[in-house]
Amino acid sequence: MSLKLRLVLIPSIILTLGLAAAIALELAWAPERVRAEVGTGMELGRILVIAAVADASALGSPAAALQRLEIELPKVRHVTFRIATGSQMIAAGEVPALDIAHAPVPAWFVHLLDPRPRIELFPIVVRGVGVGQVEMLSNPLNEIAEVWKELVRLCLILIAASGAIVGLILWTVQRALRPIGDLQRGFDRLEHGDYGVRLKPIRVPELARIGEQFNSLACSLAQVTDDNHRLIDALINLQETERKEIAYELHDEVGPVLFGIRAEAASILGICGRDAAHLASIAERTEAIGRLADGMQRTNARILARLRPLALDSLGLAEALRELVAGWQEQCPEIAFSVRADEIKLDDAAAELALYRVVQECLTNAARHAGAHRIEVCLKRADGGKGAINLLVQDDGRGLPAGLRFGFGLMGMSERVRALHGRLAIGKAPLGGAEIAVTIPLAAAAMA
Ligand SMILES: Nc1ncnc2c1ncn2[C@@H]1O[C@H](COP(=O)(O)OP(=O)(O)O)[C@@H](O)[C@H]1O
Ligand SMILES: [Mg+2]
Repeated sequence: MSLKLRLVLIPSIILTLGLAAAIALELAWAPERVRAEVGTGMELGRILVIAAVADASALGSPAAALQRLEIELPKVRHVTFRIATGSQMIAAGEVPALDIAHAPVPAWFVHLLDPRPRIELFPIVVRGVGVGQVEMLSNPLNEIAEVWKELVRLCLILIAASGAIVGLILWTVQRALRPIGDLQRGFDRLEHGDYGVRLKPIRVPELARIGEQFNSLACSLAQVTDDNHRLIDALINLQETERKEIAYELHDEVGPVLFGIRAEAASILGICGRDAAHLASIAERTEAIGRLADGMQRTNARILARLRPLALDSLGLAEALRELVAGWQEQCPEIAFSVRADEIKLDDAAAELALYRVVQECLTNAARHAGAHRIEVCLKRADGGKGAINLLVQDDGRGLPAGLRFGFGLMGMSERVRALHGRLAIGKAPLGGAEIAVTIPLAAAAMA
């Protein structure tokens, strides 16, 4: 059952039950009310009719007495008087039926209240002779008509109030649920990749925050998607650049060396074809081949070092970082580099490489963007080595720009840290410049 239907149905049922209870209450005390009203009328009628009969009887003539009574018979609510003589007189114990057919109330309602008609007879006696009787008959029909009218009025008021309440609830619910429909449509569009969708401010206070959060979520998704696109572009470009650089190295460095080796070898062969007097020349050429091979080895080492820091495997993370920092110190003597690294050996070689690359990028950034005079690298076990390691790189440079946007470096860094289930915090360093803090949780087994 829909929420809207439930919100309307529940109060409707309660109001209907209330209406039924009000009608039942009214009906429950209606007979008592009719009886009391009629009883009061009968009592008053009795007093008045006794006085009137006594008055009339004192006249001494039956005709005069009856005439006087015709004039003086009292008019009392819920009571009907009749003067009867001779055969018109109702016998004692006989009760005439009520004239329901002409009552201004439905007959079933009169039967429901079940009013018992009552009759009282007052004999008219003149000079000791009975000349007739005054019959006092209870008439509850007009009281019942009043009860009926009140009941109808009560029902109309309650039905109108219930209709108004249900209508108001329906209107409020519809108004409150409209933003949920907007939210649903918004999520549908997000699901289909339309991150430009934004919701208008929601005026229902309980939902206003959700609307704001939806917009901020859409904004973040748009940003993340944008960043992802840029990251992929940067990755492709970087790969191309790397390939180009390796191709240049091979072409410029390895190519000439190989050409030289071939030339020297050909030259040796030529010399060998002549005579032994050329032995010195052969030695010279062989030395040249050795030099060329050395050159090629250095080139090879440089290419390999760029593709993969070999020091990491042979010396461990701490020593590889020291070597890395030493390389930077050589390149930038005007900056004071310092490195403090605990001897940490991680089973996971990928984690070591990731930390190494993070430091590499931090140093590149600090040297490129910060204009720093001091750069500090610190790698240590967190909390006495309880399965986490902390890396901190800080500088005293100009600090991060306001509205920092991640470039490929920071994005790659955060991706690497995320892949290791770690945390990356970028902020202001105590030294004054930028600070990159990385925490990587590691199972104890992953650390030696
Ligand atoms: N140590 C730093 N000091 C000042 N600004 C920095 C530092 N590191 C990064 N930044 C800022 O962060 C931006 C993004 O860095 P990064 O993601 O590495 O991309 P890139 O180095 O290619 O610009 C940089 O352009 C720079 O403005
Ligand atoms: Mg960078």
